[in-house]
Order: sequence, then structure tokens, then C-alpha cells
Amino acid sequence: MILNQEKIDALKAQKASLPPLRFLKSDKQIDGCRKAGAVNSLVLDAVAKEIQVGMSTEDIDRIVMRETKALGGIPACLGFEGFPKAVCTSRNAVICHGIPDKNEIIREGDILNVDCTTIYDGYFGDASRMFTFGNIGKKAEELVAVTKEAVDLAISHLVPYESHLSDIGYYIGGLAKRHGFSVVREIGGHGVGLEMHEDPYVCHLGFLGRGIVLLPGMIFTIEPMICEGTNKFTVDQKNGWTIYTADRKLSAQVEHEVLITETGYEILSK
Ligand code: MF3
Ligand code: CO
Ligand code: CO
Repeated sequence: MILNQEKIDALKAQKASLPPLRFLKSDKQIDGCRKAGAVNSLVLDAVAKEIQVGMSTEDIDRIVMRETKALGGIPACLGFEGFPKAVCTSRNAVICHGIPDKNEIIREGDILNVDCTTIYDGYFGDASRMFTFGNIGKKAEELVAVTKEAVDLAISHLVPYESHLSDIGYYIGGLAKRHGFSVVREIGGHGVGLEMHEDPYVCHLGFLGRGIVLLPGMIFTIEPMICEGTNKFTVDQKNGWTIYTADRKLSAQVEHEVLITETGYEILSK
């Protein structure tokens, strides 16, 4: 991707903070990430088609495994820092990193996040979706709707050479707060593409106009975890992975992977 030198010079004159070059992907890398993102979305499509009440979260893992292989990809989560399954399934009070389990059955009234990362031709795609089952109640409906809206809102404000990284947290945090919800601060989005987790860290709470300016060629995720009650959390002591809300109230998450382009943005996986 060729940067607009005039705009870069103007930003430098304003003493704006610019991302290091390693945050910017080449056209070849972007192409690889675009394909990996598309495959990752197809895996989530397969989950969306089959997921239903009565299934275990391990059944979701099987769908991800089967579909990823059929598409020629590799599930990135499997074995990542010792993670035992191909996908994260985070139900109700689980904020993220839920481990699929044959004894965890999806029931009417549940909300569930399925977070999928796929390696395709050496590149990584990452996205997650919320699924709801039957009548989940008014509060849960609002939580899930606000979480989706928060991601869309933040993405709609991505402007190359103009937006700052912290603007994402400003829009997401603001919307959540207006609904009386909280946002997890310590776990967030990230650069992605050549690895599952790259710099920069994308915080879903923030002020307008702080941090680096977004430039074409940056690829990162936006994946807020929004909580009904407290944003404090606890980690499952037995498995070391599953992150719960400290008050065991609901948490929802949606993850989209975006590329900053010369004129705006492109969603690579959702
Ligand atoms: N897909 C998750 C993310 O959005 C990462 C999961 S790591 C795992 O960053 F090991 F828990 F799978
Ligand atoms: Co993810
Ligand atoms: Co991610």
C-alpha cells in the first residue's frame, strides 16, 4: 500500500503520533489476510447454520474443526499457548476464552459467543459472533444489540490519516455507558495477520484523539466485551483459560477484523 506522502507530512508537521512501519502490511500480506479473513467468516457461517439448542459447545468445536479443514485452513486456537480446542465458546457469564465442553449444553435463554481464528496459507483471520437462543429476556437482548452496535459504530468512524486508535474505545465505551453497561479494559483487540496477536493493543475504552493515527495498511480487530454488571473478571482456576464476569452477570462480545484503506476501511472477517 502506497501512503499519501502529503498527508503524512502534514501529520508530522502537527507532531501527530504515527504507527511504526511494522504495523503496515504490504499488498501481498493484505491479499493473504483478505483470503484468511474470508475463510474464517465461512467457518463462522457454517457454525451459524448448524448451531441450535441441545448441542454441546464441543459440537461447535467439531463444526469448526471439520469446516476449517474442508476449506484448507488450520484452526489457530488449537494448541495456542496450550489452548485445548479449535474455537472459543463463551456462554452467558463467560467473557471470553470459554473452552468447548461435551457437558456444556446450549439451552433456551442462553447467549453464546463463538470466536474463531483461522490460519490460511500462513495468514491469520479472526472474528467472533454472538448467538442467542429463544427468549433471552430484555436485558440480554439489549446487551447483545448494544455490543453489535458498538462494533459498527467504532468501525463507521475509522478514517485513514485522521482517526486515532483510542477513538475506537471512545465510541464503544460511550455507547456502553449510555446503556448502563461496562466494558472490559484489560482484554481487547489487536493487530492480526502474520500472527494471531500482533501490536497494537486495541482498548475498547478511551478518549478521542489519543494514541497513534490510523494509516492505510493497518489490520486489527475490534472485539469489545461488554458486561451487564461489573467489568471486573476472574479466571477459571482449574483450566486457566475461561474468563468470567466477577459478578457472574452476562457478558457479550462481537469481533470484526478490519483493514484501514486509503479511503476508509474494509472488513476482512466478521
Ligand atoms: N480469537 C481470540 C481473539 O480474538 C483469541 C483466542 S486465543 C485462545 O483474540 F487461545 F483462547 F484460543
Ligand atoms: Co477472536
Ligand atoms: Co481477536
